Amino acid sequence: MADDLEITSGPKAEQYGNLYVQIQGLLTGEHDLVANLANVAAALKEQFRWWWVGFYLVKDDELVLGPFQGPVACTRIRRGRGVCGSSWAQGKTLIVPDVEKFPGHIACSSLSRSEIVVPLFRDAQIWGVLDADCEYLDHYDDTDREWLEKIVALIIPSR
Ligand code: SME
Repeated sequence: MADDLEITSGPKAEQYGNLYVQIQGLLTGEHDLVANLANVAAALKEQFRWWWVGFYLVKDDELVLGPFQGPVACTRIRRGRGVCGSSWAQGKTLIVPDVEKFPGHIACSSLSRSEIVVPLFRDAQIWGVLDADCEYLDHYDDTDREWLEKIVALIIPSR
């Protein structure tokens, strides 16, 4: 059984550093993908209190909603659509300071104002994305990109 997450304050990079170690601990020895995705989403939500955080997984050439924390969300996103589908198509992390200025943004929640989407790679193939939404404008930056890319690299899809 997992211990309670230790929530930290201070500079964002320190919060991520502490969280990273705890997520490593949560994933160690557990091979179930859904369990691991669920715990990563929960750990990020608990530490950062974002409006929505979770995963979309590539299935039959679409992104399909996976484990998440937050309000109900759209279930399927096509390649190239919205921020998630664009991150998948472009093969890179996208930071959107103002979702209303992103052409084709899919508004799962009208309260979401800024967003970051990080692709999940395995052997140069994208098998899903991590999506985080915040109710404040311009919330995500390169520190989030750097640490979220490190965190998702801990998740091994075939285990
Ligand atoms: N806003 C996303 C859709 C997913 S929800 O935010 C959870 C997008 O434009 O792809």
